[in-house]
Amino acid sequence: MLVFDSGLGGLTVLREIARARPDLRLVYAADDAAFPYSRLDDRALIARVVAVMERLIDRIQPNLVVIACNTASTLALPVLRARFSLPFVGTVPAVKPACAQSKTQRISVLATPATVRRDYTKELIREFAGDCRVTLIGTDRLAGIAEAALRGEQVEDAAIRAEIVPCFVDEGGRTDTIVLACTHYPLILDQMERLAPWPVAWINPAAAIARRASQLLGPVGARADAVARAYFTSGTKLSPVLVRALEGFGVVAADGEPIRLPV
Ligand code: DGL
Repeated sequence: MLVFDSGLGGLTVLREIARARPDLRLVYAADDAAFPYSRLDDRALIARVVAVMERLIDRIQPNLVVIACNTASTLALPVLRARFSLPFVGTVPAVKPACAQSKTQRISVLATPATVRRDYTKELIREFAGDCRVTLIGTDRLAGIAEAALRGEQVEDAAIRAEIVPCFVDEGGRTDTIVLACTHYPLILDQMERLAPWPVAWINPAAAIARRASQLLGPVGARADAVARAYFTSGTKLSPVLVRALEGFGVVAADGEPIRLPV
């Protein structure tokens, strides 16, 4: 199985898949040469994801691909499903479960500005929000902040707080549930919980995505010996801190040549 993201965020999904399916040989691929995806316009992003996927599928021959990225899934899934014959599982904002569990009927969706803009996201809200009030918050800094934190760089509390505070709305009832609609954000969940103006439920869809992918592949088999391997499209040398962080997710960085692609 191939788990794909623009950067390191998809590791939060891979971790759940590895827990659910110890029988699978997992490959993680990060299109870090084009990170962050949220800065690409729609046409460029679709072209990029299709081009990278062509190379990866050719090279890895996966039985299923998980697009562990909301920014890509909310735009490119129909194109990928039409172009390739293997199953794709996407990652999209968890509006439905968040609205179902909110007691105050006020939720916020924290995502990249591109995910916030998408028709797909607006359609999810129309279909599943019901009487729940949904505040969409786009942040173009938080994915980068999460990457920096995983790379062991110093991240100021104030920088994280500034990005999450708009999610906390107190107008005749408080936000009690926040959807983590970018796979990078669970990487800094501890900090976000600590910096939250008041306690909320944070919805991370990773376990649900793992369940969906697992269902599609059928019963769990015998444990695989292989460790998960990671490919980075930039081909840049990983720092020792990042190598250790990857190991924490059960992933080793693949040797072999990087996948070089024009942005
Ligand atoms: N991990 C991606 C997501 O879930 C976002 C990061 C990016 O902009 O590349 O949306």
